[in-house]
Amino acid sequence: MNMKRNARIALLLLLAAGLWLALKPTLGDRRFTFLPFRWSEFIDIMDFWLNFGSFAILGTTVWLAFGSFEKAFRHLLLMTGFITLLNITLELLQSAIPGRAMDMADVWAGLFGCVFGIAGGMVLQLLNIHRKSAGTEPQVLFLDQTGRLGGAELMLLDIAAARAADSEVILFQDGEFRTALENVGVKTTILKLGEEASTVDKQAGLKRVLRSIPGILQLMLQTVQAARSFDVVYANTAKALVIGGPAARLAGRPLIFHLHDIIADGHFSVLNQQALVLCANYCAQSVIANSEATKDAFIACGGRAELCVVIPNGFRIPIERSSPEETKSLRTSLGIPSDAWTVLMAGRLAHWKGQHILLEALKAVPTAHAVLLGDALFTDEDRKYAQQLHTQAEELAGRIHFAGFQSTTMPYFDMADVVVHASVYPEPFGRVIVEGMLAAKPVIASRAGGAAEIISHEHTGLLVNPGNVKELTDALLRLQNDSEFAASIAREAQQTAQDIYALSAVQEKIESVIHQIASQQEPQESLTIISSQKSPPCPA
Ligand code: UDP
Ligand code: GLC
Repeated sequence: MNMKRNARIALLLLLAAGLWLALKPTLGDRRFTFLPFRWSEFIDIMDFWLNFGSFAILGTTVWLAFGSFEKAFRHLLLMTGFITLLNITLELLQSAIPGRAMDMADVWAGLFGCVFGIAGGMVLQLLNIHRKSAGTEPQVLFLDQTGRLGGAELMLLDIAAARAADSEVILFQDGEFRTALENVGVKTTILKLGEEASTVDKQAGLKRVLRSIPGILQLMLQTVQAARSFDVVYANTAKALVIGGPAARLAGRPLIFHLHDIIADGHFSVLNQQALVLCANYCAQSVIANSEATKDAFIACGGRAELCVVIPNGFRIPIERSSPEETKSLRTSLGIPSDAWTVLMAGRLAHWKGQHILLEALKAVPTAHAVLLGDALFTDEDRKYAQQLHTQAEELAGRIHFAGFQSTTMPYFDMADVVVHASVYPEPFGRVIVEGMLAAKPVIASRAGGAAEIISHEHTGLLVNPGNVKELTDALLRLQNDSEFAASIAREAQQTAQDIYALSAVQEKIESVIHQIASQQEPQESLTIISSQKSPPCPA
């Protein structure tokens, strides 16, 4: 505030001095008549640089007096326009003096000078922001692109909640994720990505990416400003990396990228794959991959292996599960007969999640009912797919129950006889699989990506080939007909899940990465082990 007030006073003085200097020649024969003759000659020769310099000072002062990083580009354009107009007016005034003409070089010098000066003002403003505290806990700024609650956001919710006093979250979109964060005491700010940039999805081509650049730059500047107050920037999604990576570099803060996605065809366009890996390689000090599959895909795409550490998602292990009465009333509310063998498929409705594969498989399991828990969260394509699912479900005569998105999912897992995961592309991790295991339910999952790491076939679940309807049908029939086998794999699954995926252990691992990056120590053992691998070339 003080800086702004001082800058405004300085601006007034500057403008007064500038006006006097500009009009001075009208009062005497020569320019700069107040200076000794030799200096005056010299200054005439230096005309261009003098203009540049004075307008740079003016630009800096105007930015410091009125500029802010909110709508930075609009401010930049307005200020440049205003200062250039002022410069042209002064030139016109001078050209009215007999024997003097308007000098375009001076106008250009003024324009370049003011852009340079405004940029300088921005840098000064950034340098004036100081870290929050020098306490022992690193201050972390988390970034996430969405306001919806996907798996990556649910993981971040737990990480941020555990260190709420020393963290803040910036979301690029408002939504229920903000409410969830605020409910657990995490300070959350929404910095909106412009219209163009928010429509860029994982498959976006060059044209859409180019059109999104102004919005991205704008957000990046705001993120640089925010990041200066923290010790570490933590990007939790792809767009958060693209914006947060360069922003962290500009702010001089280390960056952790939590990689929740498989960077490969099917999930990202080739251009987006390259952009992500480039950003991670040059901006991140650590990449936390949610599974070996995610890490391998990153490295196969050219990602630096030495950055990677694999940390799975962590889960709260509930002490109490739903009571039989609660389960019964949930079944009734969904319209499921009390004795019907019921399949649960939880997760957002999206083609690659493969809900259509389950519906197809259920045609050959005539007594089974299925609950689809979740909604189309992110794209128009997902919303169209959700409609198609409703049409497809009509063929199954009331056996498919759409539960929509629910913030409390445990009762749905408790109500099910079997949990199905059917992603047609490799699942990066697959929280719903672990949630099914923790609920002591037999789980059928697609044999690819993180799912194939979580489940040991025939021991802690059943794996089927992605998109293979026949295999899924066979697995469903096997579990329906052999309840003893179903119960035994469910028991083993629950024990394994409790041993491996407890939230507290996962939080500890993430905290250790945060501390290590904040203090810029040498990589830990886990980081160096992985670093010994070489990067194979990116697959076509
Ligand atoms: N989920 C939820 N409400 C729903 C459906 C799903 O909270 O109605 C949760 C689900 O329990 C899981 C997460 O959303 O924790 C989905 O994560 P997953 O890793 O399975 O898939 P993602 O959608 O992140 O790709
Ligand atoms: C992403 C992935 C999902 C993973 C989740 C949490 O949303 O699609 O597979 O489980 O992040 O890491």
